[in-house]
Amino acid sequence: MDFIYPSRSELQTHLHALPSDRIIILCDQNTQRACYPKLNVSFPCIVVPPGEASKSFDTLEYVIDQLTALNADRSTLLINLGGGVISDLGGFAASIYLRGIRFINIPTTLMGMVDASLGGKTGINFQILKNYLGTFTHPNQFIVCPDFLDTLPERELVSGYAELIKHALLIGEQELQSVLNIIPQALTPTEWLPIIQRSNQFKWEVVQADFRESGLRKQLNLGHTIGHAIESIMMSTSSPLLHGEAIAVGLWCAIHLSERRTSFDTQLAQSVKTYLKDVFPVLSLEEKVLNQIVELSLKDKKNDQDTRLMVLLSSPGEVVLDVPVSDDEVYSALYAYLNHTT
Ligand SMILES: NC(=O)c1ccc[n+]([C@@H]2O[C@H](COP(=O)([O-])OP(=O)(O)OC[C@H]3O[C@@H](n4cnc5c(N)ncnc54)[C@H](O)[C@@H]3O)[C@@H](O)[C@H]2O)c1
Repeated sequence: MDFIYPSRSELQTHLHALPSDRIIILCDQNTQRACYPKLNVSFPCIVVPPGEASKSFDTLEYVIDQLTALNADRSTLLINLGGGVISDLGGFAASIYLRGIRFINIPTTLMGMVDASLGGKTGINFQILKNYLGTFTHPNQFIVCPDFLDTLPERELVSGYAELIKHALLIGEQELQSVLNIIPQALTPTEWLPIIQRSNQFKWEVVQADFRESGLRKQLNLGHTIGHAIESIMMSTSSPLLHGEAIAVGLWCAIHLSERRTSFDTQLAQSVKTYLKDVFPVLSLEEKVLNQIVELSLKDKKNDQDTRLMVLLSSPGEVVLDVPVSDDEVYSALYAYLNHTT
C-alpha cells in the first residue's frame, strides 16, 4: 500500500496521472460540495447522504447499483473521498464488487486521516450492531492532504482528535507530552501534517504486525470498551455523541483504571484527564444511563464471555492487554469522571 502526503496541487497532479476513464469517486453530499472541487477533476461521482446511517445495506446496495450503472469492471479504481463513513462503506463495496476492485482512500476528516481510512477494516452496520459486516481489505493508496480540514466543522475535527490522543498514549511519553500541548482548533493544515504522519506510522506498524487483531492490534481498542458503550447508549437519546467524543470519555476512564490497576503514574494521569476534559465536551450522565453503560460494556465483542477485558497502560507506550475489569470498577471510573473537576 502506498502512503502519499501531497499538497493540494500535488494531489491534483497525482489524480490527473491516473487512467481517468477507469475512475469513480464515492463521496457524501458534504464532501461532494466541500472537497470534490479541490481535486479539480471530472470523474463520475456516486453520492450518498452524510452520516452514520449510510453505513447500511440500503446504501451499500445503492453504491453497487451505481457502480454497475457506470459499467465499473475489474480495472475500475474507486476513490473514497470523505470521512470514516465513506472509507468504511466504499472500502466494503470495493472489496466485494466483482470479488474485489482496487480502491484509494482520500480521507477528508481528522478521524479518517488518523484512524478510519488506514488499517484495512471496512464495513457497515447491521441493525443496531456497529461494524457488524465487513472485510479486512487495505486500500491501494492512502492519500492524506490536510488541506481538507479547512472546511471540516470544528466539532468533527475535535472528535477525530480523540483517536490521535489514543495513539499518542500508545506511542510513548514524548509523543504524549507534545500532544498535551496542542489546541486542536488552533492548528493549521501544515502543522497537522507531521502529527498525522507520526500517528499513521504507529498505527501502520501495529496493523502490519497483527492485521486481523489476534493480539497486538487489540491495543488500538484503548478507551473503546467504555467509549463504545457510551456511544451506543447516547445514540438513541436527544443528544447523540460523535464517535471521538465518546472515545474521549472511554480514554478518561481507561487512564483512571490504569492508575489503580496497572500503576500508571498518578501525576501524569491527572494531566491527561484534565486535558481530556478541557478539549472534549464534558458529559453529565444519569444513574440509569450509568447502569446501561456498565451492562453494555460487558457485551463488548473483545470480551471473553462474561469477563470484561480492557486495554490499560502501565505507562505511556507500555500496554497491558486483556485486564479483567469488574462492574464496580467501571462504576467507580464513571463516578470519578462525573465528579472530577479540572
Ligand atoms: N475502519 C476503521 O478502522 C475505523 C476507525 C475509526 C472510525 N471508523 C468509523 O468512521 C466513522 C466516523 O468517521 P468520521 O468521524 O470521519 O465521520 P463522517 O465520515 O460521518 O464525517 C463527519 C461529517 O463531516 C462531513 N465532512 C467530511 N469531511 C469534510 C470536510 N473536509 N469538510 C466539510 N465536511 C466534511 C461529512 O459529510 C460528515 O457529515 C464511524 O462510522 C466509525 O465507525 C472506522
